[in-house]
Amino acid sequence: MSKRKMVMAGNWKMNKLPSECAEYAKALTEAVGENAPACDLVICVSATLIPSALAATEGTYIKVGAQDVSAHEFGAYTGETAAEMLRDLGVSYCIIGHSERRAMHAETDNMINAKLNRLLSVGVTPIVCVGELLSERESGDAEKVVRTQLEGCLSGVSSAAVTDCVIAYEPVWAIGTGVSATDAQAQEMCAFIRTELGRMYGAEVAENLRILYGGSMNAKNCGGLLNEPDIDGGLVGGASLKPLDFSVLARTCK
Ligand code: PGA
Repeated sequence: MSKRKMVMAGNWKMNKLPSECAEYAKALTEAVGENAPACDLVICVSATLIPSALAATEGTYIKVGAQDVSAHEFGAYTGETAAEMLRDLGVSYCIIGHSERRAMHAETDNMINAKLNRLLSVGVTPIVCVGELLSERESGDAEKVVRTQLEGCLSGVSSAAVTDCVIAYEPVWAIGTGVSATDAQAQEMCAFIRTELGRMYGAEVAENLRILYGGSMNAKNCGGLLNEPDIDGGLVGGASLKPLDFSVLARTCK
């Protein structure tokens, strides 16, 4: 079995100001310690915070990610941020297809697929979010929904390219609710995702892909979740806003 390097990615959502980045980075590195944690430690921040977050984390093991990207290269797309702009700043990860964007900005798998291709073309690692609604889980459709999202988001992506992607399983009912999936529920779906990726790309590629869990992961419940064999890290909202809490998650990664 391959040893996949874990990813612990904070999703700050629309929180904090540029002036808060330096203090946050200092507190997080002090709490994690001098040596880099066993995971890739990432904070995904609003577009306007990116320069401050990059300056605050320069020379540290903390990497900076974005929370969305345009599906287009350049041009008349008011309000959008191009993948090339993120790369030029020094961003290394970008969340795409978060359920909040799917729900509030009507993002489709097709659009997420286009965003994914933009990111891959410039060498920024996409964190591709998938996950079912509570009603879909209750009606027994969770796996079908996640399979459709995976196939749509990764449509046309080669096996060479997919190795540069990170998948995040985020059941919508667990996001921001304080009710995480159980270790077993999260493991079951992450294993299902790996099986599906194996069907699409072959077992070896799937074995090396990193699959994160997200949805009310915190300092208390991360031990069990991160111990599951198919969970390779977390995508963390609320708990990533507090550097001490987030440091516990980073240090729990093996
Ligand atoms: P949460 O958010 O950890 O606050 O549930 C996770 C996410 O939305 O990525």
